[in-house]
Amino acid sequence: MPSVPAGPTDLLFSLVVPTYNERANIEAFLRRTCGVLSAHYPDKYEVVVVDDDSPDGTWEAVAALQGELPAVQLVRRQQERGLATAVICGWQQARGAILGAIDGDGQHPRKPLGALPNARGADLAVGSRYMGGGSTGDWSALRLFLSAGAMRLALLWIPEISGRLSDPMSGLFVVRRAAIADCPLSPVGYKILLEVMGRGRIERVAEVAFAFDRRQRGHSKVTWREYVAFLQHLLRLRFATGEGAVGRLGRFLRFAVVGTSGVAVDFAVLLLLRPVVGDEIWAKVGAIEVAIANNFYWNDRWTFADAQGHSSPLMRFLRFNLACTLGALINLTLFLALRRIGANLVLANLGRSPPRPSGTTGSTSNSIGGPDPPPET
Ligand code: GDD
Ligand code: MN
Repeated sequence: MPSVPAGPTDLLFSLVVPTYNERANIEAFLRRTCGVLSAHYPDKYEVVVVDDDSPDGTWEAVAALQGELPAVQLVRRQQERGLATAVICGWQQARGAILGAIDGDGQHPRKPLGALPNARGADLAVGSRYMGGGSTGDWSALRLFLSAGAMRLALLWIPEISGRLSDPMSGLFVVRRAAIADCPLSPVGYKILLEVMGRGRIERVAEVAFAFDRRQRGHSKVTWREYVAFLQHLLRLRFATGEGAVGRLGRFLRFAVVGTSGVAVDFAVLLLLRPVVGDEIWAKVGAIEVAIANNFYWNDRWTFADAQGHSSPLMRFLRFNLACTLGALINLTLFLALRRIGANLVLANLGRSPPRPSGTTGSTSNSIGGPDPPPET
C-alpha cells in the first residue's frame, strides 16, 4: 500500500492540487494561490499540481507557468486516475512538514490557507462548510441530498472517523506530515480526508469555516462511479481500520448486551401496561417505544460513547427511532399475528408460534382465547 515518507521536509508547507481537465481554471487558480501563500510563507511553500494526463492539456498550461511561478511543481500521472490517489501521489513527492489538499477549480477559497497550517497544536485542520460561517454555495437539490446521504452513511458506518468533524467530506484541509508518515493509505474515489482520519495518527483536529464557491468554468468530475467508490471506501475503512479487532468485538458485545436489555424492558412494559391501558395493541406499541428509548440511551452513552457526532441528543434519538421503524413494525405485526393464531402473551412476544395440538392425545393449545385447531384432512 502506498504511504507518505517521513521526509525530506526542507519546506514548511506543500499544497497538493489534483486536476483533471481544469485548463480553463488552472492559471487563475495558481496565480491567486501563490499570491496568498507567498504573503504567508515566503520561500517556504510549494504548490504541487498532480494532473492525470488531462485530455485538455491542463499539465501543459501548468508547465508553461512554472518559469513565472517557481513554487509550482508538476506531476503528470499517465497510468492512474482518481482524486484521492492523486493527492497521495503529490504528498509523496512533496517536501513540506505540513501537507495540504485543495481543489484546482477555484471552488475552495484561498483565504483559509493562511489560517489552516497555523492551527496551533492540531494534527489536522479542515475547512468546513457545515460549521457556523460556512456554506455549500449554490449546489443543486440533488447534490445536497446526495451529500447529506453520504454524511449519514459515513456516520453510520465509520462513526469514530466521521463523527469527529463537522465536514468529513471536505476537500480542503492540511495535515502534519508526521501524523501520516509511513501510514498505509489506500483510498478509492474522492474522499481523501476520510482516509487520512481513518488511517493517520490524528489526535487533535481543528476546523475553519469556509463557503464553497460556484464553479466558474468547466464542470464537476463527480459521476455515479464516485458514489460507488464512496461506498467501497466506507467498507474498506470499516473493515481495515479504526478500533482493531478487539475494539470492534467490545463494541459488538456492548451492542448485544443493550439489545438484550431492550427485550427485557419490552416484556416488563408490556406486562405493566396491559392492565393499565386495557388494550393489548397499545400496550405493545408503548413497550416497543420504551425499549427503543432504552436501547438508544445505553447505545448512545455506552456502546458509541466515543462517536456521537455533532448533532443534539434529541436529533440522535429521532434518527435512532427512524432506524428502528422497520424492525418495530415487524415486531408488532408478528406479535399481533401470533396472538391471533392463539399464542399466549409470552410466546407471542418472543415471536414463537403456539405449540401444535397433538391429534392422538387430544390435548389442546395452552393459548387463551385462540381459535380452534383446523380440522384434519
Ligand atoms: N488528478 C485528478 N484525477 N484530479 C481530479 C480527478 C481525477 O481523477 N477528478 C477530479 N479531480 C480534481 C478536479 O480537477 C478538481 O480540481 C478537484 O479534483 C475537485 O473535483 P470536482 O469534480 O470539481 O469536485 P466537486 O467540486 O464536485 O467536489 C468537491 O467538493 C466535494 C464536497 O462535497 C471536492 O472537493 C470533493 O473532494 C469534495 O468532497
Ligand atoms: Mn469542484
